[in-house]
Amino acid sequence: MNPPQGRETFFVSCSPGLEPFLLREVRALRLSRSEGQQGGVQFSGTLRDAIRANLWLRTASRVWLRLARFPAADADELYRGVRTVDFSRFLGPDGTFSVTARSRRCRLDHEVFVTQRVKDAVADAFREKHGRRPSVDLDDPSLHLHAHLLEDRCTLLADTSGGSLHLRGWRRFQGRAPLKETLAAACLLASGWDGRAPLIDPFCGSGTILVEAALLAGGMAPGRYRDRFGLTGWPGHDAAAFAAESAAARAAGRAPAKLVVLGRDRSAESVAGARQNVEAAGLSGVIRIEEGDATELTPRKGWNAWIVTNPPYGERLGDRRDLPALYRAFGGFLREKCAGFTAAVLGSDEGLLGELALPSAGGYDLKNGDLDCRLAIYRIPR
Ligand SMILES: C[S@@+](CC[C@H](N)C(=O)[O-])C[C@H]1O[C@@H](n2cnc3c(N)ncnc32)[C@H](O)[C@@H]1O
Repeated sequence: MNPPQGRETFFVSCSPGLEPFLLREVRALRLSRSEGQQGGVQFSGTLRDAIRANLWLRTASRVWLRLARFPAADADELYRGVRTVDFSRFLGPDGTFSVTARSRRCRLDHEVFVTQRVKDAVADAFREKHGRRPSVDLDDPSLHLHAHLLEDRCTLLADTSGGSLHLRGWRRFQGRAPLKETLAAACLLASGWDGRAPLIDPFCGSGTILVEAALLAGGMAPGRYRDRFGLTGWPGHDAAAFAAESAAARAAGRAPAKLVVLGRDRSAESVAGARQNVEAAGLSGVIRIEEGDATELTPRKGWNAWIVTNPPYGERLGDRRDLPALYRAFGGFLREKCAGFTAAVLGSDEGLLGELALPSAGGYDLKNGDLDCRLAIYRIPR
């Protein structure tokens, strides 16, 4: 399906399992011809739409612009296909670029070879036109190209995001095992939280879920902290459109001052780090973080709260033997002190989640990096 004239095709990628949440977000942004696919969502639009997508999508990893699609059964076909693209909108001869590749069920199955061939085609196009060529920069290129090969066809994509969108720009402290901001946002969306009930993360670590919760509830754009995306470095970039969209994203919403967003962690280092993150995000007036054991938290009477959390899962080998007891104690805390609440618990071990001993209200299979995870949802009985 080709987009109407003046419009282009974009593919928004996401971590496996987040597609339904991303599709809802893309539709809410009114991006046209949106279609859920494995690994992300396709839409049709202008580069200005891509700017909005980068600024506003909470669960997206990257927004890719589709440059071309062509047969690539062998190295020559691949080379010729890349040469059909006019790169001058995206890259000057003094710019830098990088190429990545993925190949599935193809005769060209050597991904390093594919990146090399694509790189040669781009370099040759510039050398022929300008007598010189852009150089390769793997860390911070002005243009990142990705060649996606499937069944002997290549889709060539340009990264409009310039790195993963989970890097929002507010994080100062990492902690031991931070969730990606995109996954934290998805857990909140999946939990069914309405953005008005109190939100608690009793194992808050670096505070990712808390910050994403405040941004979501306040209608604030997750990209408001970034002044740079991949497309802002392109020669054909519309700086005025970016300035306008970015100013609108920064002005939109406000920190929800009356909302209760409460975090807790037993590590003093995590609490200090999470507070630093919250401060950098400008959300100190909304988010409160306490130091202490998760099971000693005392929710106020009458709170019909949501607990969205990611308890320890044995990031360090030595911690693992204590985990069943911790999950049992946390289950007991939920039953005794959180009757009527909803809990969404992200875990990577079904056995440990079973230790919570709570009746399941469904859940989602997700990925935390390479780790298979389940976001288990519970309605705590009254
Ligand atoms: C997987 S990490 C959470 C990461 C967090 N979601 C983030 O994005 O940074 C688990 C956290 O639980 C904390 N923790 C472990 N046992 C605890 C307990 N009994 N009570 C409170 N916090 C605990 C650890 O210090 C760690 O920060």
